Amino acid sequence: MNAFLEVRGAAKAFGGNQVLSDVNLQIAQGEIVGLLGPNGSGKSTLLNLITGFTPADAGSVHFDGAPIERLAAHRIVRTGMARTFQLPSMPTKMSVMEVAMAAATAHHGVWDTLLGTPGARQAEGDARERATHLLHELLLTPVRDLPASALSGGQKKLLGIVCALMARPRMLLLDEPTAGVHPNLRRDIVAALQRLNAQGMTLVIVEHDMHFIREVCTRCVVLDRGEIVASCRPDELARNERVLQAYLGTAAATTTPSTPSAVEAA
Ligand SMILES: Nc1ncnc2c1ncn2[C@@H]1O[C@H](COP(=O)(O)OP(=O)(O)OP(=O)(O)O)[C@@H](O)[C@H]1O
Ligand SMILES: [Mg+2]
Repeated sequence: MNAFLEVRGAAKAFGGNQVLSDVNLQIAQGEIVGLLGPNGSGKSTLLNLITGFTPADAGSVHFDGAPIERLAAHRIVRTGMARTFQLPSMPTKMSVMEVAMAAATAHHGVWDTLLGTPGARQAEGDARERATHLLHELLLTPVRDLPASALSGGQKKLLGIVCALMARPRMLLLDEPTAGVHPNLRRDIVAALQRLNAQGMTLVIVEHDMHFIREVCTRCVVLDRGEIVASCRPDELARNERVLQAYLGTAAATTTPSTPSAVEAA
């Protein structure tokens, strides 16, 4: 595989808790990869490590051929990789539109904006147009002037996706994008992600919902206690011994009720 993203030998411990051990992962351009695993298996930590929010203890991360494991998170965004958060926190006073605009400023550099150069004014106009379009796509136009902190949990997830897309990423990593989102809206998110993928965006999606995974993902990678135990097509998950063991074996006691049934439903 010609890797667009390549993680080699990644490891991370918090105190005595070895959360990721020797993680090796390759993702090709254009894939939609589902990242699965029981609660606490290290999925969010792996996303944090790839996107520069958590320093690794060991290992390397290459994106589009260049090493990124030493870059700060805001520099990684500028290489074309953006992400969303499992539990998005929003500023209390800024409106939804202002949050989307702030994401553009953060992605493209604050200095140009502060200097008020003609280029910066053009960039601001472009960003406003893009924010308006993305807020519409993710059904947030009616709440664009509300304080972002007043949004529901599902709407905060949608705004998180808008903020990530403001960076015009080539790769987008999403941490449980549809958790707590109404089924109708979930359909819109699925459609939006498929459109983005059709336009060339590579996606990595942490998700527990098997219906979502079967509908959207071209491949699944399964983490169990910090190790990758499977990489297979979604329809192969239910037959994979290591996957069944991860969800129904000794780890079953610590999983949410939805997690084992999700695999059974596959
Ligand atoms: N900043 C941190 N400090 C200490 N421990 C942490 C930290 N971040 C994560 N952990 C621990 O790492 C382990 C993996 O957490 P992580 O959030 O990556 O799991 P997850 O697979 O995303 O789980 P979930 O499905 O519940 O979101 C957990 O035991 C968690 O307590
Ligand atoms: Mg998580």
